[in-house]
Amino acid sequence: MTHPAFADIDACVFDAYGTLFDVHSAVGRSGKALGDKAESVSALWRQKQLEYTWLRSLMGEHADFWQVTGDGLAYALAAHGVEDSALHTKLMNQYLSLDAYPDVADCLSRLRNGSKKTAILSNGTPKMLHAAIESAGLDEQLDLALSIEDVGIYKPDRRVYQLAVDRLATEGKRICFVSTNAWDANGAANFGFRVAWMNRFGKEPERLPGELSAVMTSLEELPGLLGL
Ligand code: LAC
Repeated sequence: MTHPAFADIDACVFDAYGTLFDVHSAVGRSGKALGDKAESVSALWRQKQLEYTWLRSLMGEHADFWQVTGDGLAYALAAHGVEDSALHTKLMNQYLSLDAYPDVADCLSRLRNGSKKTAILSNGTPKMLHAAIESAGLDEQLDLALSIEDVGIYKPDRRVYQLAVDRLATEGKRICFVSTNAWDANGAANFGFRVAWMNRFGKEPERLPGELSAVMTSLEELPGLLGL
């Protein structure tokens, strides 16, 4: 049965990293190079990458997501006592072809078959997004890939979410936004999207403004929420 919050949706807009693409698959493919530090490096890499987006936005010192991702990785490697520029380069290259989560392709197909538009709205640069979409074979299932580079500030600034409204030419309340990152889900809900938080990792909800309309544990649930 259609969830009342999602009865009138034109388009589904997805966060990219952590929601469609597994950011930990880069370190996961690095073999034995990091030994038992692998999981901890990957977690700190992601944490610093996101912190740098928020901090640079507050400082008014924008640098694109490729640089911020590289800076986050440099911090994470150094914090674990790893000095290896070849490994840094290798891990950055892996970021261009991250694994898509197994529930992504089928969800996007069902949405498209149900006449919903599908888009990505991400901190990633256009080059990073296109590389990840192509390597995961998702180009046919996405109408648009929107990058915050078009507004020059990171999520959760309202201008980022407005970009999706403008490019999809529909109202915020007719956009279903999906993110695994709870802070992004809250930012999008606070902006005015209808939000389904994809709680892939069983996280605690954030104590932030923005009312989430639904919580999912798999993208398989999304078409059903929209009555498809
Ligand atoms: C993105 C980050 C937040 O794709 O995961 O925008």
